[in-house]
Amino acid sequence: MNILILYDSVFGNTEQIALAMKDSVATPHTAVAVKPDAFSLELLKDLDIFIVGSPTRAFRPTPAITNLLKKLPLDALAQGIHTTAFDTRVSLEDANSKFLNFMVSLFGYAAKPMDALLVRHGGTQLAEPAWFFVEGKEGPLKANEKERATIWINELIAKLSVL
Ligand SMILES: Cc1cc2nc3c(=O)[nH]c(=O)nc-3n(C[C@H](O)[C@H](O)[C@H](O)COP(=O)(O)O)c2cc1C
Repeated sequence: MNILILYDSVFGNTEQIALAMKDSVATPHTAVAVKPDAFSLELLKDLDIFIVGSPTRAFRPTPAITNLLKKLPLDALAQGIHTTAFDTRVSLEDANSKFLNFMVSLFGYAAKPMDALLVRHGGTQLAEPAWFFVEGKEGPLKANEKERATIWINELIAKLSVL
């Protein structure tokens, strides 16, 4: 199975998640992780799973990720590519702000719009999007989030293997 993880990261936390996922993929499967500036349509050739990750910034993915996904040809993922998305975010419990709770109830997080853009470009949703917590705006990641990410990606592979 060939897996592509496209991710963006400002402070390095989402990158740590993306690289932990990539490194946990064992033969016979292969995984590549790239940031938007290294992405090309060539990478979608013979692809089985396309995972896109971004930090949540002002309730959204980064502009680099959103623009890249929006600019994909409408049928770019329609050749049976299975897709899903993940973000990093601050836990509402940690933020402890009624205002933030309200804003999040309106605008959400980065993973859902990325997931929707993947489906809009022909992707077959493999699983609901996932999220991983950082302690504060610049991180670090909460304990065990990298482990949780490696479990998640291996569950995705297992799920597609039996489809
Ligand atoms: C300008 C800015 C806006 C942010 N907006 C949100 C937000 O809307 N929701 C949230 O949960 N976290 C928000 N955060 C925290 C980010 O999610 C956090 O910086 C990110 O997960 C770190 O990932 P990175 O190290 O890969 O950049 C924001 C952080 C910054 C700096």
